[in-house]
Amino acid sequence: MLRGVVLAGGKGSRLYPLTKITNKHLLPIYNQPMIYYPLFTLVEAGIKEIMVVTGGNNAGDFLRLLGNGREFGLNHLNYAYQEEEGGIAHALALAEHFSGGGKIVVILGDNLFERGIGSSVERFRRQRKGARILLKRVKRPQDYGVAVLAGRKLLGVEEKPSQPKSRYAVTGVYMYDAQVFEVIRQLKPSFRGELEITDVNNYYIRRGEMKFDILKGWWADAGASIDSYLEANLLAARKARKEERSSDEFKG
Ligand code: G1P
Repeated sequence: MLRGVVLAGGKGSRLYPLTKITNKHLLPIYNQPMIYYPLFTLVEAGIKEIMVVTGGNNAGDFLRLLGNGREFGLNHLNYAYQEEEGGIAHALALAEHFSGGGKIVVILGDNLFERGIGSSVERFRRQRKGARILLKRVKRPQDYGVAVLAGRKLLGVEEKPSQPKSRYAVTGVYMYDAQVFEVIRQLKPSFRGELEITDVNNYYIRRGEMKFDILKGWWADAGASIDSYLEANLLAARKARKEERSSDEFKG
């Protein structure tokens, strides 16, 4: 069975001082706490077994906010506590036991998607092994992991390069087979002292086991900067209003 992991740790330093007294993923995005969006994205893709990985002083607030996931139609939610910050891959390592030796879909707790990711998840379900990522063309690729492409061939990912080789950002949805935990164990911290998810992705790319899809609809990384946080709010508001309008029309 495919299980889902929402990563919601980190210091949120790029949104300081909004994150001085709370975790970034608890901040509001329009009318909902940030973490609701990625959690809903997983549920909507048919993933029912989900773990939230978080840490820091506000870890308990996630339990109060999300409980057993009833608002999302879940019967229970799993939680893991990250004792020290060490990057996305470090946080993901805490989900090894939960994964039960199966494939996982990981989503970053600050990532918002306009449309569902169900079709990519379905392709990954059918994928015998390896990994899968979602790419999106963006205006400022230098703020993200950037795909190095030769036509439709993915040659590698560069983390926040000053001279991006494409305009395709690696979004915060990562699908991995069970090898991922062994890969993480072999990682060395990057110059920023973190275990980088980009290094995990490059491992799969080097082995020829990475597939990708180009995302349709908008994508927002609400934690990348204060401007991207604002942009995520505006996009989420527009989407919510559009949904309201179409449900009003439906009601007549
Ligand atoms: C992380 C990844 C980056 C990816 C981004 C997507 O960056 O390191 O490769 O493009 O998430 O949201 P962060 O925003 O944690 O610095």
